[in-house]
Amino acid sequence: MTSAAPEGAPRRLRAGVIGLGWAGQQHVAAYAADPTVELVALSAMEEHLLEQFGEEHQVPGRYQDWKQMLAEAELDVVSIATPTFLHEPMAIHALEAGVNVITEKPMAQSGEAAARMVEAARGAGRVLDVSFNHRRRGDVTALKDVVDSGVLGPLYYAKTGWVRRQGIPGLGTWFTKAGSAGGGAMMDIGIHMLDMTLHLMGEPAVTAVSASTHAEFGPRGRGGSGFGISQVEEGTPFEVEDLATAFLRLDGGATMLLESSWAQWIPHDLCYVALYGAEGGATIEWGGPDGPTITVWTEVAGIPAELRPAVGADGNHAAAVADFLQKVRSGDVAAHDGSQALRRARVIDACYASAEAGAEVAVAQ
Ligand SMILES: NC(=O)c1ccc[n+]([C@@H]2O[C@H](COP(=O)([O-])OP(=O)(O)OC[C@H]3O[C@@H](n4cnc5c(N)ncnc54)[C@H](O)[C@@H]3O)[C@@H](O)[C@H]2O)c1
Repeated sequence: MTSAAPEGAPRRLRAGVIGLGWAGQQHVAAYAADPTVELVALSAMEEHLLEQFGEEHQVPGRYQDWKQMLAEAELDVVSIATPTFLHEPMAIHALEAGVNVITEKPMAQSGEAAARMVEAARGAGRVLDVSFNHRRRGDVTALKDVVDSGVLGPLYYAKTGWVRRQGIPGLGTWFTKAGSAGGGAMMDIGIHMLDMTLHLMGEPAVTAVSASTHAEFGPRGRGGSGFGISQVEEGTPFEVEDLATAFLRLDGGATMLLESSWAQWIPHDLCYVALYGAEGGATIEWGGPDGPTITVWTEVAGIPAELRPAVGADGNHAAAVADFLQKVRSGDVAAHDGSQALRRARVIDACYASAEAGAEVAVAQ
């Protein structure tokens, strides 16, 4: 249920959500728990989910036609949590209708599509944001504090990755078709690690990449998981990668190794960032046998020291949505036009181009 607004509070923003898979459900929960927002409309193909979430949160507008929702629901903000190739047309339509937009990651299936979305946001004077919920995790926030304290000194190298034992989402759905997903593991989960690591490192530009992609599990119908609610279409070819590795050159001379896999012969899923600075190193790990960990290696008064900073609660989607709403309320649309996410999309494009060419590729700026 949408919470009541505090007395004397400014007008509540009218929110809608398109797509009610796992991702869309996170946005529904975030709006429903926020007393400054009125969740007024939902759109999805699945009638039973419109009914279920509409009833649970008393949402009056329930639409199978998302354009009808945008035409009728008088929204201030909308979350787009549909298959990736739909982010672009839905975001541009919403922005041009005067609605502020947050899309799920990845922003779009290509850098070119992402650039058109940014252009639409600028033209409409509305906020365009992308939900990078993993950078709101407690361990990432704690590591950001460590980096910003200066204790690691200048960072010159990072290793980051999200690797799964058996986690191809929706094998045989839109997730594994090139035209609808834009890519595989790099596009789906590598993007989170790229976002998180650039965020931790203070947003250096990525100037060039050398990448490689492999599809060893998907084409044989192996490595699938139960993620996603979309229909499996019999005979859908596996057109994307299930493993990608990349070496990234960053402006200023630092480098990054980025790996992502949906399926791989490894003991268990793992998500990690390791940062190396002139005065110290630090890692976060998530998914290992010890649970989430953060460790810092440095020296205190010349004595080698291992620090275990406290880790706060995870913010995840609720924090990403709250941040988006704050950007909308700030009125500073120029600062929030999706450019940062566009830069991520261009890095992913360059990774695929490099893998195709078998050579290092410059990243479009
Ligand atoms: N941030 C995260 O941690 C995270 C996690 C999972 C997925 N995602 C992203 O979220 C997006 C959706 O992923 P998912 O796993 O929820 O997908 P899904 O396939 O499980 O669900 C897709 C939803 O979109 C709806 N949809 C499709 N076409 C539509 C249309 N024309 N009109 C209205 N609704 C339509 C479907 O009805 C369904 O409700 C993807 O871009 C994915 O990469 C992000």
